[in-house]
Amino acid sequence: MVYLTRLEHFNAAHKLYNPNWSKEKNEEVFEGCANENWHGHNFDLYVTVKGEVNPETGFVMNLKDLSKIIREHVIKKVDHKNLNLDVDFMQGKMASAEVLIVEIWKILEKQLPQGVFMHALKLYETARSFVEYYGE
Ligand code: NI
Repeated sequence: MVYLTRLEHFNAAHKLYNPNWSKEKNEEVFEGCANENWHGHNFDLYVTVKGEVNPETGFVMNLKDLSKIIREHVIKKVDHKNLNLDVDFMQGKMASAEVLIVEIWKILEKQLPQGVFMHALKLYETARSFVEYYGE
């Protein structure tokens, strides 16, 4: 089993705001991230898949194909978008990195070729803050 990782990048706006709470409670919990008029991040998304090496290609899967899957099914939907307002798979959800990474996993796992499986996602919101998800 070999693990193969591709890095993709996107920019998106969001705010952390629970509509069931008062403005004061949102500001207390989320501080600047609750700013009504949004803020943005430059996100880095590391997608790691695993599989056996195909003896004919020497690949787990073609990296070009992996990049295309990530860009078509995830990046196109979130890049230069507002995560709270514009992104279909985030509707009605908290727009945190934790929620986003789980939704991205659900999308990507359906798109991989036979014999290739999701292993890990890492989503960097800033250079110093990131979330990881292993599908459990
Ligand atoms: Ni933020």
